[in-house]
Amino acid sequence: MTSLRASEEAGALLGIAAAAAAEAGRLLASWRGDERPEVVQTKSSPTDIVTEMDRRSEALITSRIRARRPGDTVLGEEGGQTAGGAAGPSRVRWIVDPLDGTVNYLYGLHDWSVSIAAEVDGVVVAGVVEVPRHGETFTAVAGQGAWLHRGDAKLALHCSSGVPLGQALVGTGFGYDAGRRRVQGEVLAALLPYVRDIRRGGSASADLCSVAAGRLDAFYERGLNYWDFAAGGLIAREAGAIVGGLAGRTESTSMAVAAGPGLYQALDEFLTKLNPERDGQRSQGRDA
Ligand code: IPD
Ligand code: CA
Ligand code: CA
Repeated sequence: MTSLRASEEAGALLGIAAAAAAEAGRLLASWRGDERPEVVQTKSSPTDIVTEMDRRSEALITSRIRARRPGDTVLGEEGGQTAGGAAGPSRVRWIVDPLDGTVNYLYGLHDWSVSIAAEVDGVVVAGVVEVPRHGETFTAVAGQGAWLHRGDAKLALHCSSGVPLGQALVGTGFGYDAGRRRVQGEVLAALLPYVRDIRRGGSASADLCSVAAGRLDAFYERGLNYWDFAAGGLIAREAGAIVGGLAGRTESTSMAVAAGPGLYQALDEFLTKLNPERDGQRSQGRDA
């Protein structure tokens, strides 16, 4: 495939993702119940919840993708991986977090999002993170920069650059397992005296977009799932951030780090010494 055709294909995939994310965002934002949405399931721990709205959002997104691209594979947080109807394996796979920041959503906090990425041959080429309560949509196509859409405005995103660690505003997050959180707390306590401050937003995909927009100088989290960082990682990278793991590794479900040039290396070295992956738990592969 020529690169022009590849970029046209990626742009078309982004269009499908953006339309599905916008519709799912409207569905989630339309929740008007006086009570919190019902928690229908818990997963890795009693606080790792699924609401009926996570499921409805994923069902909507999957149906919209299937309507346009019936042969593709879809990996969704709630539904797992499902193959499309193609005769052979599809080159395109969609990575869907139908509601990233479910706890914020449940509590009526505004930092939650819908995250959809499209892979071609295993490489993320397009991604969208929709943040309905902020009226913001973050998008990227590989090699074409990252963008923030707010109403009719479309702004090119650029991460911060050259920020020393001691001046850095650093976002992070915590898993749901108590043992992992204990280590995450220790790492955070060791880092806190050496940075400007820490933020825990509650939606990893939105945090990565905050790095893209220069609202955070860096973000790191141990133990994310692929759907948490597939789209946001592309958006941060296309905004000029370095996205990876520690000590030269690629970003993965073990560790994901994003920071502007100059800062990444300092944060990487600091975190590597703290060994934040020492909680003894196996992380799955990049996209388990
Ligand atoms: C969670 C959020 C949170 C991060 C957790 C994720 P969910 O996703 O992204 O910020 O710290 O690790 O699991 O469960 O709300 O989709
Ligand atoms: Ca998530
Ligand atoms: Ca989720």
